[in-house]
Amino acid sequence: MIHLTNVTKEFDGKRKVRALDRVDLHIAKGEMVSLVGPSGSGKSTLLNLIGTLDKPTSGEIVLDGQKLSGLADDDLTRVRRDKIGFIFQFFNLLPSLSCLENVALPLHLRGWKRAKARDRASELLDLVGLGKRMDHLPDELSGGERQRVAIARALSVYPPILLADEPTGNLDTHTGAEVLSLVRDIHSRLGATVLMVTHDRSVAASCSRTITLRDGCVVGDGTA
Ligand SMILES: Nc1ncnc2c1ncn2[C@@H]1O[C@H](COP(=O)(O)OP(=O)(O)OP(=O)(O)O)[C@@H](O)[C@H]1O
Ligand SMILES: [Mg+2]
Repeated sequence: MIHLTNVTKEFDGKRKVRALDRVDLHIAKGEMVSLVGPSGSGKSTLLNLIGTLDKPTSGEIVLDGQKLSGLADDDLTRVRRDKIGFIFQFFNLLPSLSCLENVALPLHLRGWKRAKARDRASELLDLVGLGKRMDHLPDELSGGERQRVAIARALSVYPPILLADEPTGNLDTHTGAEVLSLVRDIHSRLGATVLMVTHDRSVAASCSRTITLRDGCVVGDGTA
């Protein structure tokens, strides 16, 4: 499902940083993988490359049989829209839209009719336990509830690949555990391939496989 071959990413600032250094990685369809490593080791960079938000300096990434290197920006946008769901640490919800509208937005962008998009969005908000909060604005929700809206939004298009960058990082232990069990539930119900960055050992241990990065290199890859 996700294949990286010899992927290097360098950032050219005042000083050149090699954020990823010749990474080889293969993740099969339906795996739930945690990504760990010290701050600055390249975790978010890796997620951004797989999520087509950024491009490698060299090397090849293949998603669901499709090579990313040959694609024009329009096609990359389409791959991102059709195949990828993102959950960020900071929920990135639009503050002026209700929960329902936030979740329906990716569907509108795909050209769904308004009523159909709202139906799907309300179904997903039910799934994450927020059926009673659909018309609330993000400001009117707790942190855990906001993260659940963000998860519903990431799932709105039923993406085959779900990428999460510390989805529990801003939540207390209890709420974090709830969000995590939701991700796991969705993984098993929808069969999505999940790659999740975490700093929490117990979260990492709960995944079937853990990949460890250090200084841009994969230094560990173990199944639980
Ligand atoms: N846009 C950028 N320009 C320059 N350097 C960058 C950029 N993004 C990341 N880096 C550098 O690349 C390295 C990897 O960063 P990355 O954000 O992937 O780390 P991370 O493992 O996600 O860390 P954290 O756990 O703190 O989120 C760091 O040294 C960082 O400073
Ligand atoms: Mg990061």
